[in-house]
Amino acid sequence: MANATATVHPNIALVKYWGKRNGPLNLPAVPSLSLTLDTFTTRTTVNWGSNADRAELDGRPATAGEGKRIFEFLDLIDPARPPCAVTTANDFPTAAGLASSSSGFAALAVAGAAAAGKDLNAQALSVLARQGSGSASRSLWGGFVEWKMGEREDGLDSVGVPVAPQDHWDVAMVVAVVSDAKKAIGSRPAMRLSAETSPYYDVWVKTAAADVDVARQAVLDRDLDTLGRVMEQSTHKMHATMTTCTPPVFYAQPGTLACIHAVMALRDAGTSAWLTMDAGPNVKVLCAAADAERVQAALAPHAAVVHRLGPGGAPVLS
Ligand code: PMV
Repeated sequence: MANATATVHPNIALVKYWGKRNGPLNLPAVPSLSLTLDTFTTRTTVNWGSNADRAELDGRPATAGEGKRIFEFLDLIDPARPPCAVTTANDFPTAAGLASSSSGFAALAVAGAAAAGKDLNAQALSVLARQGSGSASRSLWGGFVEWKMGEREDGLDSVGVPVAPQDHWDVAMVVAVVSDAKKAIGSRPAMRLSAETSPYYDVWVKTAAADVDVARQAVLDRDLDTLGRVMEQSTHKMHATMTTCTPPVFYAQPGTLACIHAVMALRDAGTSAWLTMDAGPNVKVLCAAADAERVQAALAPHAAVVHRLGPGGAPVLS
């Protein structure tokens, strides 16, 4: 019997992952590039050897569906594993508009592998975490991280790769929480619907690698305007594949549009601020750390809460 605890930060994609070429293995149809965030963490403890499989999320017992996802994930570490007890908690509000699945499955991979006595490096942990949730493959490193889509059928080359460390660039990510209403459709079925029904999906897939190339170079050059432009276009292209689904998938709320206009007005007034959105109504804005207060003030009238975050570090095991 052994136990381990991992503390892991969520990440936000600057160039998005949307669409799979293999569903069960979570192999993506496109590469993506993200920023790991500071301040917010998921903290997960795995006891490898318990009287039964038991999971607790944010202080309450896991639902049957949540438990199934957690324990099937631990089966990937060892199909002959003993019953395990898992406790996991986010120190950020679940409605913070942040991808908790990215830190959630990365934390489960790090704590689960350590509790099982497996000494896996960050790349092996990234391959493992990816199978829980695609975005989790990028939370194994701090700073800027690329998820290579890979080519292999077994997915061993579909893995996160660090691009630049946490202290590379003094940027901020300002998160405007527009609505905490439960989303009508999750990212998995929405991705599937985009691939099956959107006439724009092929364009999305064909143009993604070039976007990642531009974004990677812009990160290395600390060129915020170039990164911001390609980042916004990636978001709008991803959402175009959703709004053109049959039936359409529409995550934006009135406050979302107000935030988009606020960001464009900031730019017109000379502030380099650039937005991204995931499978939800909230708006995340990348800017220089020195401009973060101005960006927060511009978004505040349109949002329930505005969080200011910066580049975060790698997982910590204890
Ligand atoms: O892996 P998931 O299910 O968390 O999918 C994440 C998809 C987006 O957040 C919309 C984009 C991304 O790259 O994180």
